[in-house]
Amino acid sequence: MKAKLFINRNEEIGKIDRRIYGSFIEHLGRAVYNGIYEPSHPLADDMGFRGDVLSLVKELRVPIVRYPGGNFVSGYNWEDGIGDKSKRPVKLDLAWLTTETNQVGIDEFQEWAKRANTDIMMAVNLGTRGPDEARNLIEYCNSETNSYYANLRRQNGFERPFGIKLWCLGNEMDGDWQICHKTAEEYGRVATETAKVLKWVDPSIELVACGSADPHMPTFGSWERTVLDHTYDYIDYLSLHCYFGNYKGTPDFLASAEVMDSFIKEVANICDEIKAKKNSNKTINLSFDEWNVWYRTKDEEKQMERWQIAPHLLEEKYNFEDTLVVGTMLMSLQNNCDRVKIACIAQLVNVIAPIMTENDGACWKQTIFYPFYYASLYGNGKALKTNVEVDTYKTSDGVDIPYLYTSVIENEDCMVVFAVNRSLDEDITLDLCGQEGYVLDSHTQLYNDDLNTTNDKENERIKPTSIKVNGNGPITLKKHSWNMLIFKK
Ligand code: AHR
Repeated sequence: MKAKLFINRNEEIGKIDRRIYGSFIEHLGRAVYNGIYEPSHPLADDMGFRGDVLSLVKELRVPIVRYPGGNFVSGYNWEDGIGDKSKRPVKLDLAWLTTETNQVGIDEFQEWAKRANTDIMMAVNLGTRGPDEARNLIEYCNSETNSYYANLRRQNGFERPFGIKLWCLGNEMDGDWQICHKTAEEYGRVATETAKVLKWVDPSIELVACGSADPHMPTFGSWERTVLDHTYDYIDYLSLHCYFGNYKGTPDFLASAEVMDSFIKEVANICDEIKAKKNSNKTINLSFDEWNVWYRTKDEEKQMERWQIAPHLLEEKYNFEDTLVVGTMLMSLQNNCDRVKIACIAQLVNVIAPIMTENDGACWKQTIFYPFYYASLYGNGKALKTNVEVDTYKTSDGVDIPYLYTSVIENEDCMVVFAVNRSLDEDITLDLCGQEGYVLDSHTQLYNDDLNTTNDKENERIKPTSIKVNGNGPITLKKHSWNMLIFKK
């Protein structure tokens, strides 16, 4: 099949905010315990953080990590995770029906974040708690004042504030699974009051309010409108969450990025509708702070033995098909960078994650590691508008989907084209228009004949290969492959 990609060099979508390559660590399963933290591991550092995991996290160059949840945060008392570790309470986590030892809390996590070269995106509990605990937490984390919580931080050994600049007002408060789930009115009120006290303590922070937990929520749309009616003047971003899965066959699954595109556009439109209604000069941008493929291990916690410590939960084993879907979702985030300023792949280690560990053993890259790695490393600069001419196929719902999905990013050094060929049986010969002044310098490909191929600790089957390039001659994008083309001046 032939395809043409027209690159409109004079029309940019926007500048990519590197925070779209963020991730997420929740107190869930083995994300924290036996994920990032395992003091008895041979590669653990002086604070018990696994060095092998830290190296892989650093390879991904994740600019922000959302913490400590997720559903977990809605029942969390942050004070349980500070100070003397031997005195920390062991508690039941009602979100995942496990036992939380509190051996890691913000005291440790802020140190891990420094070692991982990343910033924290901190979520506050608006389930069982509210503005009071949130204002105490931000005083503990960010204040230089001579006051109780800032002094408590000093007593715990941290003279300097942690300086956390990005805060989430709760998590998925529209979902009835959430501890102390709220109506949009209830959430809108508590989010507004929490936003006020947080910014009074530290006016330099940015705030994210909860949008819908999923575009299929029955309240999607009305939730956003009501929440924005209350919070508009106090927040900076509205959140989006969405997980995809192969429920209706591979061709439908490979079209996930189109669903993501429409979801983003719909939420951006709602933000602008409220902007117009309020006659405001302020634009609310988007934080897509949970996204990934997740379907094999949904609702696992309901079947397992309750109250275990760090059980194997949500350990999705990704295959090559997922590589392609994650690759296109990253392109969707890049193509919507005019509105999406923050995004977090959920999650980072063991729990629906690109990095897997074995207790007391190895750590390895899942099949979704590389599309994220390349987007984070090379997807920086301005995203350009494009037009694609290519055949389409129909999803089971009769929607036309182009076989080729792309994003194009230009910076001072180069122009990068990310491209996924969604055809299951035909290669694409790609003709480019608009690359004048550039020469194709490299072609990196992720491909496997079998879409079910996975990686494990012994074998990294899904890894990049370098394709020989031939000036600006025709480019072949193999059937069901992910590609990155780098053009140099
Ligand atoms: O990432 C796993 C869970 O998915 C999070 O805890 C929750 O916010 C979402 O439903």
